[in-house]
Amino acid sequence: MNNKVQWVYNSQNNQELAQRYNQWAQDYEQDLTETFGRPKREPIVDLTLKYVPKTARILDAGAGTGTMGQWLHEEGYHNLVGIDISEGMLAEAQKKNIYTELRPMVLGEPLDFPTATFDAVTACGVFTYGHAPSSSFDELIRVTKPEGYILFTLRPDFYESSDFKHKMADLEAQNKWQLAELGDKYKAEDKGQFTLYLQTWVYRVIN
Ligand SMILES: C[S@@+](CC[C@H](N)C(=O)[O-])C[C@H]1O[C@@H](n2cnc3c(N)ncnc32)[C@H](O)[C@@H]1O
Repeated sequence: MNNKVQWVYNSQNNQELAQRYNQWAQDYEQDLTETFGRPKREPIVDLTLKYVPKTARILDAGAGTGTMGQWLHEEGYHNLVGIDISEGMLAEAQKKNIYTELRPMVLGEPLDFPTATFDAVTACGVFTYGHAPSSSFDELIRVTKPEGYILFTLRPDFYESSDFKHKMADLEAQNKWQLAELGDKYKAEDKGQFTLYLQTWVYRVIN
């Protein structure tokens, strides 16, 4: 399979998704940078800097090989916990030595953390076709402290066509969270078959 991004999008279930990422883990970062043209750093880092203090305990949800964690670590965030469905991806993240804890966990299922554990949650590239479901937000809100932040990226076309738009609005209507900022559209991959755009959503947790 040449297009690994499409290959993981097409996963039929969590088991297949985890297996595909396990297989891709060792080449993932090089592939994304060289084959797909991933930028050196994505705007989610600057938005984290804008809203989240350096002392914050941050959950990197869908941490993968730890790219997001590395960007945050370079900025002085050193209290980072990572979770991912793929043990292969977590094994790569472990090599970076930047997380205080890395654990296999499945977004969309109950998370093994007490309520209000984290000051912030980040999820870069985790909510998309064949990946973590919109129901993941219920648990991410639960494990975030009131007034904490949840920052994540979404493809604008996926936001429009999936159930994410409805779920995000519903959580706002229920006063679970409030939109703090919607970042500009940016090119997250510009060397693949098509240019992939993403936007960063920043929510403040209320309950
Ligand atoms: C495109 S990668 C992004 C990884 C990393 N955040 C980054 O910015 O490079 C998506 C990651 O989300 C993880 N993932 C997808 N669905 C998940 C789920 N339901 N629960 C936990 N992790 C999931 C995948 O295993 C993969 O590591």
